[in-house]
Formats: sequence, structure tokens, C-alpha cells
Amino acid sequence: MTLDLEFVRSQFPAFREPSLAGFAHFENAGGSYAAAQTVDWLDRYYRQTRVQPYYVFSASARAGEQMDDAKTRLAAWLNASADEVHFGPSTSQNTYVLAQALRRLLKPGDEIIVTNQDHEANVGAYARLADDGLVVREWKVDPVTAELERKGLEALLGPRTKVVAFTHCSNVVGSINAVREFTDLAHGAGAWAFVDGVAFAPHGLPDVRELGVDAYCFSLYKVYGPHLGALYMRRELNEALPNQGHFFNDALPGKRFTPAGPDHAQIAAVNGVADYMDAVAGHHGLGGKPPAARADGVRSLFRAHETALLQPLLDFLVQHPKVRLIGRTRAADRAPTVAFTVKGQSSAAIASALAAAGFGVGVGNFYAYRLVKALGIDPDDGAVRVSFVHYTSKDEIDRLLQELARCLN
Ligand SMILES: Cc1ncc(COP(=O)(O)O)c(C=O)c1O
Repeated sequence: MTLDLEFVRSQFPAFREPSLAGFAHFENAGGSYAAAQTVDWLDRYYRQTRVQPYYVFSASARAGEQMDDAKTRLAAWLNASADEVHFGPSTSQNTYVLAQALRRLLKPGDEIIVTNQDHEANVGAYARLADDGLVVREWKVDPVTAELERKGLEALLGPRTKVVAFTHCSNVVGSINAVREFTDLAHGAGAWAFVDGVAFAPHGLPDVRELGVDAYCFSLYKVYGPHLGALYMRRELNEALPNQGHFFNDALPGKRFTPAGPDHAQIAAVNGVADYMDAVAGHHGLGGKPPAARADGVRSLFRAHETALLQPLLDFLVQHPKVRLIGRTRAADRAPTVAFTVKGQSSAAIASALAAAGFGVGVGNFYAYRLVKALGIDPDDGAVRVSFVHYTSKDEIDRLLQELARCLN
């Protein structure tokens, strides 16, 4: 079975939007287009149920039900329980809240491992706990391959390690890390595994139970949805960490790690992500399957399409004499998030040339500042990043390759 691209693209208003005609979106790792279902949910919520939710009057009760449904449905796609899923304003905010909880729980001398492959959202909040007497250790990438190696983690784990925070997929390197293996290592040392899934989730929602992680963060605005951060927390972790919400809500698992309070409409619009994923599953004959199997099926469809489109891009970059490609060269080993630098040309100039030709690509350090520095790249100019997802077409890739051939000189 292959992904029906015509069907997929018909689900995204951006592809019919006159002001975007001719534009090719290759900055999906920054933010994806929203599915029509997401836009519809937001519109409907604001028209019909934009009142304080969870009272007994009709519009209010409906608003609350929609918010609860969003959580239940996203949880099903992740193979989690509804009370294990929390919505915050962003992933950066969610990791900040987790770090505040750790600050109160852990004792001076306890250890946290962070990586220099991660986006700063999964590093800085934990690294700052050094100010409270915690010992922060850095699991470093190999500076040539940009990979996190198992032996690097093994060397850092010890009897006082409490948390290992690492990424499922770097938003610059693109490698898909061995989350289960690293999580098992962390658990073997008695530590929790906190995983940043922001750069992975757009390519297929993960099965968090299969990964075995304790906390998993991702950003719904990169997964065809509203601007929210989703935080999965294993129930036992929720129970072990001190409440970060109002004291009188301490007994309510869903309120303990969302001190900012929910954005009602955006939460309701997470139903749009579930509707979109259901539509893809249904269209490809996966509709009758249990949620975890449906998620697995959609993930495979997305991955197969992306991998086929990715290999020619990697091949082009690898053979170009002036390009330094960051990360693996085999499409099957990585996400379609591809960063590179070019000898003799600034990354900013390349991004500008591509923008002038109708291609939206990313440029800079992508807040993976520590990684970019570790790779010997100037973090102010950074790298060019071309990132796409399952709705990208072969025609868009072909046009991008032609344009790259022209502007990388
Ligand atoms: C890999 C990765 N982690 C974390 C974040 C931060 O997410 P948010 O913008 O929701 O705080 C980003 C944002 O680009 C990211 O790419």
C-alpha cells in the first residue's frame, strides 16, 4: 500500500490557498501546514463553544467534552491513557515545568544527563538545575558523525543519575535515535528517560509504551495541528513529581503539570489532528484496526513516502563537492530534516536565494546551539535546513533539486 498523495494534499487548505500558489514549503521542521480538520475545529470552537468549559449549560458542557475528547483521542494514537497526556503552550514550556518539578524533588549531588544533540528546549531547563546543586552531565555527539553513541551514555550513567534527557530525532541531524535502547539503559541505572519527540512526531505519532519512555514531548503545530505542546508522562512519573499546578488540584493528574492553564480552543482543535490521522487511516483501509495498529500503519505510510523522496536529495548533497551534509546518508536511517553548509557561501545567502525562487527553507542554528557549535559551525550563520513531510510531492523535490543545483556554486 502506498500513500495517496492527492488525497493527502486535498486535506490541507494551504495547497489551495491563492497567496501560497507556487510556493514550496521546505521548513516543516519549524512548523507544518495545518490540516483542514484543525482549521475547522478552531473555527467551530470559536463560533459555537467559546465559553468557559465544564459547566452544566449546553455550550459549556460541549466545550469541556470536546477538550476531553481531544486528550482521549490523542492518547489513543500514542498508545497512552488520557490522564497521561497534558497540553501546554509549547514543548519549551512543558520541559520548563518538568524541570521545576525536578528542582523540588531531587537532592544536591543527584545527576541529570543532557545531550548536545538536542534542541535547547530539552537541555537548558535541566542544565540550569546545576544552580540548585544538581550535577549536570553532557552526553556529547561524535563531532564528525553528529551521532549520539550508546557508549557515551554508558560512560555517564551512575548510581546518582536520576534523569536522562535526549532526543528521538535531532531537528538538525535528522537521525532517528535508538530510544528504546537508550531508555532501557537509563532505566537499568534507575533513571527516568525524558525524550524530545518534536522532530519525530510529524513523521508518525510514536507508540510511547513501546518506546518505554517516562516523558515524551512534542509540538502539535508541527503535527498539522494547533499551537500547543503535548506532554506524555507515564502515570508513575506524574505521581512521583511534585504538583506544579494549584494546590487544591493536587489529586487531579491532568492538572498537576499545566500551571499556565489550558488554551481551550487549541485543545479542542487537537481533535483536528485526530480527525486528520483517522481520515488518512480510513482512506488507506486501516480504519477498522485498533488505535496502536492504525498509528503504526499511518507511520509506515508516511515513512515510506518520505524515504523515497529523501534519498535523491541526500544523494545530491553527498556528491556535491562544496556541501557538508550533517547526518546520515541513507534515507531509511533518518527523518527528512536535512541540514547542510556550503563552502564559500553563507547559509543565509543560500536561504535567501531559495526564498527568491519560491522555496521556504530554514537557516540558522535552530536552537540546537550546542550541537551546531560542537560540529564546528558558526552558530550565527548556522546551516541551511530543508525539511519536508508526507504531504510533500516528488515534483516539489525535483524542483528543489534543480534550484539547489543552480544556487550552490
Ligand atoms: C527538536 C525540537 N525540540 C523542541 C522544540 C521546541 O518546541 P516549542 O516551539 O514547542 O517550544 C523544537 C522547536 O522547533 C524542536 O525542533
